[in-house]
Amino acid sequence: MTLLKRKAASKIIFNDILEQQMELLEQKLIRFFPKPNYDWKVICQDLSLVTIPKQQSQLFIIAGVGGDKTIEFIESLTRQSLDNNFDLLICSVHGNYQVRQLLINLGYKLVSEEIVKENKRFYEIIYVSHAAKKDITLTGDEQWNNENPDHHEYLRKTIFYYSKKVKTNSEAYLPILEGYESKGFF
Ligand SMILES: C[S@@+](CC[C@H](N)C(=O)[O-])C[C@H]1O[C@@H](n2cnc3c(N)ncnc32)[C@H](O)[C@@H]1O
Repeated sequence: MTLLKRKAASKIIFNDILEQQMELLEQKLIRFFPKPNYDWKVICQDLSLVTIPKQQSQLFIIAGVGGDKTIEFIESLTRQSLDNNFDLLICSVHGNYQVRQLLINLGYKLVSEEIVKENKRFYEIIYVSHAAKKDITLTGDEQWNNENPDHHEYLRKTIFYYSKKVKTNSEAYLPILEGYESKGFF
């Protein structure tokens, strides 16, 4: 709704699989963002089944699902696209290392990235495009700010999490742990 309010795009499409939520959302949109002043659409569907409209300049925002789901969604969207006619703004709950790995493998490039803390939880917001120039890195080189105490806290928590994971599967998780440890501050 904030995006609608500031007219961030000519049309905004909302998608979630939960019927009740989407009905509630639709009622709110009808009330607060009446057409034709605002152009929006509500879809209630599994995102993996959504077909990408044949239109240039599209941005998919994938927010609030875990790493595995985020990966599934990025794969299904990218598979459909012959001309890479969309950008992605990703806000995954955990699993950012693996999400970044996939984005690199699929040839996405970095527009910008940021660490956000909300309700005591940390998120990496990763904005990527095939048209951008910067390489994506596995631990998000651009997002860290040594002066920001929140970033220290996020790095400490991430290192703690992967130290535990290494004990369950060292081969899979040691490179990730070393990647975060090499950030060099905490
Ligand atoms: C934590 S909520 C985040 C909601 C919203 N995207 C946000 O960032 O505020 C996660 C949402 O993902 C939706 N979801 C999970 N799997 C989905 C799928 N396959 N297709 C569409 N939505 C899905 C759930 O129904 C749930 O509403």
